[in-house]
Amino acid sequence: MGYVGPSVVNQLGTSYPGSTLVGFDIGYFGNCITSTEILPECRVDLQYFADIRQFPEEVLSGVGAIVHLAGISNDPIGNRFEEVTLDINYRASIELAKKAKEAGVKSFIFASSCSMYGTADDSARTEKSPLNPLTAYAKSKAFTERDLKPLASERFKITSLRFSTACGWSDRLRLDLVLNDFVAGAVASRRITILSDGTPWRPLINVKDMARAIDWAVGRDAADGGEFLAINVGSDDWNYQVRDLAEAVASQIPEVGVSINKDAQPDKRSYKVSFELFRRLAPQHQPQVDLIASIRELKEGLEDIEFNDQDFRNSNFMRLNILTRLQKKGLLNDKLEWISKL
Ligand SMILES: NC(=O)c1ccc[n+]([C@@H]2O[C@H](COP(=O)([O-])OP(=O)(O)OC[C@H]3O[C@@H](n4cnc5c(N)ncnc54)[C@H](O)[C@@H]3O)[C@@H](O)[C@H]2O)c1
Repeated sequence: MGYVGPSVVNQLGTSYPGSTLVGFDIGYFGNCITSTEILPECRVDLQYFADIRQFPEEVLSGVGAIVHLAGISNDPIGNRFEEVTLDINYRASIELAKKAKEAGVKSFIFASSCSMYGTADDSARTEKSPLNPLTAYAKSKAFTERDLKPLASERFKITSLRFSTACGWSDRLRLDLVLNDFVAGAVASRRITILSDGTPWRPLINVKDMARAIDWAVGRDAADGGEFLAINVGSDDWNYQVRDLAEAVASQIPEVGVSINKDAQPDKRSYKVSFELFRRLAPQHQPQVDLIASIRELKEGLEDIEFNDQDFRNSNFMRLNILTRLQKKGLLNDKLEWISKL
């Protein structure tokens, strides 16, 4: 019930037509659907609303594969809720994997992140490069990978997909992602505001291509990469500097100005990534949606919903804003658990 989930449901529904797709989500962003026409969860066979921190084991009965997306999904939330981020993203993930292994689940796919490379020099990070997680979010992914590894076995294959930063259209759109933010600014106010000095390197991937990679991981044989595999997911052509992304958006939308914050503190999160291993192991599931196509689909989607919110950085398209509002309204407690009011 997040940004990536709907694409994954579409992809797996197509690849495994006879299967039963089960959703599991706490529902923080349940009402953040991008258009009013479709509730994305209509496409799963069964949907649970529950907290991964109290995962009910009975849900795992008969399950063949788990695509584990649930979690706190960015640095701003992680910085604000550090311990909660570790609880949900790390501790609950490991408990889930243990329960899944016990229940006979065969394949566990974890949505990890290239952000665990943190600051890096100019050479592209490979899976063998040292990790340098700088934030609670990045640490939660690194700790989870570390503790997942010993759980993998011949019968319990684990794939940790270290995704590039996502972009593109979704039935539950986020605008707190760099390319999505730039296109939203360009559409709403003909202005792209880069918060950094524009130099950081950031690999990108379209959300549909994330789903394609997940599809590969669900079906992958242990001969392809081993019982435990941590792998960078993206494409070598998609290592961009943030200012290049802004220029690409400006090239597709007329009369757009780009402003760069020259006084910004250098953004420490800057890394180029090598996707050679992914290219070798998953030749049939390589990214297909390029930068310009991603910009166009976002532009057309936003225009379709008549998006014109110049103040969107304060809107419900930003995950942190939603959680903050739910807390202020007394709906979530400080552990980000729902408070039931009778
Ligand atoms: N979007 C990206 O750029 C990107 C890149 C790399 C990795 N990832 C990872 O992919 C996954 C999905 O990302 P997204 O962009 O869809 O994020 P999102 O915030 O849109 O979705 C996350 C979902 O997890 C659910 N969730 C959070 N805490 C939960 C809990 N305690 N119990 C049950 N459900 C819970 C939320 O309700 C939400 O629906 C995340 O794990 C994220 O870290 C995303």
